Amino acid sequence: MTAHGGQFFSAAQQLGWSTEHALDQLLDFSASLNPLQPDFDLNINPALLMHYPPEQANPLQQLLAEKLQLHTEQIRLTNGISAAIFDFFNWLRPKQTLLYSPLYGEYARAAKLFSPHTQLIRRDLDTNSLVFPSQLNADSLVVLVNPATPDGRRYPRTQLIALLQHCQAHQSWLCIDESFLPFIGWQTEHSLRDQLAHYPKLIIFQSLTKYYGCAGIRIGAILAHPTQLENWPQATWPIATLDSLLMTQALQQANFDARTQAWLKQDKQDLITQLSDCRLIEKIYPSEANFILLKLHTPAQPLAEYLARQGLLIRACDNFGFNQPHIRLAVKTPAAHQRLATALDNYPC
Ligand SMILES: Cc1ncc(COP(=O)(O)O)c(C=O)c1O
Repeated sequence: MTAHGGQFFSAAQQLGWSTEHALDQLLDFSASLNPLQPDFDLNINPALLMHYPPEQANPLQQLLAEKLQLHTEQIRLTNGISAAIFDFFNWLRPKQTLLYSPLYGEYARAAKLFSPHTQLIRRDLDTNSLVFPSQLNADSLVVLVNPATPDGRRYPRTQLIALLQHCQAHQSWLCIDESFLPFIGWQTEHSLRDQLAHYPKLIIFQSLTKYYGCAGIRIGAILAHPTQLENWPQATWPIATLDSLLMTQALQQANFDARTQAWLKQDKQDLITQLSDCRLIEKIYPSEANFILLKLHTPAQPLAEYLARQGLLIRACDNFGFNQPHIRLAVKTPAAHQRLATALDNYPC
């Protein structure tokens, strides 16, 4: 079993499909990417590639600062958030790491490598409230993904502020991964971004690949106090010129936010409706993000394998620590949902 979603190209290879055929026929519900990809213009002057890129892809950083209502000094572009997670843990080497789980698996992997004591704080998936860890200190790091994966629950700002104050009282680090927050909205009111100026031990990770439907472009943003970013461990020229040009195009796309909001509202409901009569599903969890978590009556991994043979990739959630089978599905388009629903109906069990 793969430890994470987004195995598009290896799945195509296993099916013996050409890349062109896979791009046309293979549906990836396992990586929660916006299917409304921006229009990318790949007509780029090759002479641009002769030179090393600017240290911080400046036009992009400026655009992002406006979008996030931050100063550019509070933003550090990185070669994707997955890489930033490892850089951060490697740099901080927290003596104690507390992970609100279930969560994106890379945090547990990084903690295992770089932190001697890791504790999981199991989130109750049926409530909005978080249990706050006791016995924190200045060497502790607390991590929360909001909206959370794999369930899509969004923790309200009151909870986040209370958690921040709790960490502040113990001088602990707090890392919030807001990678899926743009699907709810870019407004500051959903985020802890406005607290960055007040607490230098607050770090926010903002992936851009999900929202702009472009996981092949490796750019994300680390948001933190400028003093922290001055010391951030990073190789020179972290962002490729092509990546920054394409991501800049994505951020400049007219109406992309409005189109995404309209798509998500309508097509998330379509997915839920199409699955509502499925005999394999015990429960659909409420989600505010662009994916949904399902509890099943049948083991997840054999189902994932059956669907993969039909060109449908889903995320079996066996390694998220559930004691019953769960899967996660990205919201896509009605035609894609229909194909999935039909395959689920035909599952021989
Ligand atoms: C919560 C969360 N953060 C970060 C990432 C990685 O993002 P990136 O594509 O920027 O590496 C993922 C990818 O699935 C994710 O689920």
